[in-house]
Amino acid sequence: MKSNLVSQLNESAEYIKGKISDKPDIAIVLGSGLGSLADLIENQVRIPYNDIPSFARSTVEGHAGELIYGELNKKKVLCMKGRFHYYEGYPFDVVTYPLKVFRVLGIRKLILTNAVGGINLEYKAGDFMIIRDHLNMMGSNPLIGGNCDELGPRFPDMSEIYSSRLRELAKHTGQKLGVELKEGVYVALTGPSYETPSEIKMLRMLGADAVGMSTAPEAVVASHMEMETLAISCVTNAAAGIDDQKLSHDEVTAVADRVKNDFTRLISHIVDQFDTLPEKTMSEKPIEAKPERTKNMADYLDHTLLKPEATDAEIEKLCKEATEHGFRTVCLNSANIALAAKLLENQKPEPIAVVGFPLGAATTSSKAFETKEAIKSGAREIDMVINIGALKAKDYRKVMLDVQAVVDAARPYPVKVIIETSSLNEDEKIVACALSKSAGAAYVKTSTGFADGGATTEDVALMKRIVGDDVGVKASGGIRTTDDAEKMIAAGATRIGASASVEIVKKK
Ligand code: HPA
Repeated sequence: MKSNLVSQLNESAEYIKGKISDKPDIAIVLGSGLGSLADLIENQVRIPYNDIPSFARSTVEGHAGELIYGELNKKKVLCMKGRFHYYEGYPFDVVTYPLKVFRVLGIRKLILTNAVGGINLEYKAGDFMIIRDHLNMMGSNPLIGGNCDELGPRFPDMSEIYSSRLRELAKHTGQKLGVELKEGVYVALTGPSYETPSEIKMLRMLGADAVGMSTAPEAVVASHMEMETLAISCVTNAAAGIDDQKLSHDEVTAVADRVKNDFTRLISHIVDQFDTLPEKTMSEKPIEAKPERTKNMADYLDHTLLKPEATDAEIEKLCKEATEHGFRTVCLNSANIALAAKLLENQKPEPIAVVGFPLGAATTSSKAFETKEAIKSGAREIDMVINIGALKAKDYRKVMLDVQAVVDAARPYPVKVIIETSSLNEDEKIVACALSKSAGAAYVKTSTGFADGGATTEDVALMKRIVGDDVGVKASGGIRTTDDAEKMIAAGATRIGASASVEIVKKK
C-alpha cells in the first residue's frame, strides 16, 4: 500500500542523510516565536525546506522554514524551525510529511512545541504546559486515506499519544530548574481566526485547558508510527473572552520571545535527560519502498481530441487507436461523448468529457448540467476547468462551490480539475490544488492545451506535493514524445493527456 509515498519519503530522507554526519536521535518541532532554541544547537547544518524533495514550504511570518541538524547537549537533534499549518491551506498529509521523513530517518523520539491560548482560568501568559492529551477539533484525521502499512496499522491506538514517561521526565526537569510546568489537555482548531469567547466557553466545558492551531495532527501521525512524543506548550495569552484584550499574532510572538530563555533551558535539559530512560523495544525494520508494479505507458494515457473542428470520422479513428493500443481513456468535448461511448462499448478505454472547457468561465450550474448530461451520454470521468478569474480574485468560496457542484453532479465518477498552470502564479497553483482536493476532486490537471503554456515537470511536482497521494495529477498540454511523458511520470504525474498518444507508445 502506498509504496509511492514510501519512495517519496526515502528520497527526502536520503537527501537529508546526504547533508548530515550521523543519525539524529531526537526530532524537535519549534512553534510560533519559539525558534530561538535552534540557536543552542552546536555544529549546525541548516537545510532549507525548499531544497528537500517533497517538502512544502512554510508561509507564516515567524516560521523560517528550515531543518537544523546538530548537537543539543551532546545529543544529535533534527529541529524543524517552522512547521506547516492546515490554516495555510496545506492538506494534512503535507502538514505531517516531515514527521514521516523523521521516522524513515530512524528517529523514535519527538518533541513538539507550540504557542497556545490559555483556556484554564489558572493559566497566565508566559506559563508552560505539558500536553497530557488532546481534543482534535480540526474536523478531520490526518490518517484518513489509504493506510501506509509500512508506517503503522490501519486502526492505531491513541490512548497514550503523549508518552507518560516523557511527561514525568519533563516534570522532574522543570522542578530541578525551577521552571513551573502545568499539565493539561490541548484542543486543536483549524484557525486561522482566533476563537470566539463562546467557543472558548464550550471548549472549557469539554475539558480543554489550552487551544492552538497545530500539533494534534502531528502527534496522531507520530503515534501511528510509534514515535514517542512529548509536547510542550507556551501559553502566550489568555484565550478569547477571558480578559478584555484583543488577540494578535504579535502578542503571541512577543510573549513567546519574553519566555524564550526558560523555554530553551527547559527543552535542552529535557533532551539531556533522555538517555536516562531505558530503551523501549520497538521494531527497527527499515521503511523501504516495495518495488512498484511497472505500469504500462498506455495505462497512463488519456487519448485526446479536443479541437472544435473534430469530425465523427476523427472521433472514430481516436476510439479505434485507443482500443488498439489499450489506452486508459479517450478525452473529448461533451458533444462527442455519445458517439465515443457507443464505439467503445465493451472495450477497455472509457470516455472522458471536458466541462466548462476551455475557459472555465461558465456558470457553476451550467458546468453541473453539462456534467450530468455527459455522464448520461456515457462519460465515465469529467475533466472540468476551474474558475480562474474567481481564483485570482481570491474568491475561494466560489471556486470551491464550483468544483463541488461538478463533483456532486459526476458522482460516482471521478472529476479532474484543470487549474491552467500557465495562467497562475505559484501561490495560486498551491491554493487551486488544495481547494480542488478539499472539494472532492480525484485529480488535479495542469492545462487545457488551449492557453499559452502546457505541462511542466516543475508544476507537476508542485501539484503532487500539495495534493499528496490520495489525489492524482494529470499532466497535459504539449506532451508529444515518450521522453516528455516519462519525465512527467517521474515528476509525479499519474495520468497523461495527449493527442500524440500513438507516437508516445511507439517503441523507440
Ligand atoms: N488560540 C489559538 N491559537 C493560539 C492562541 C489562541 O488564543 N494563542 C496562540 N496560539
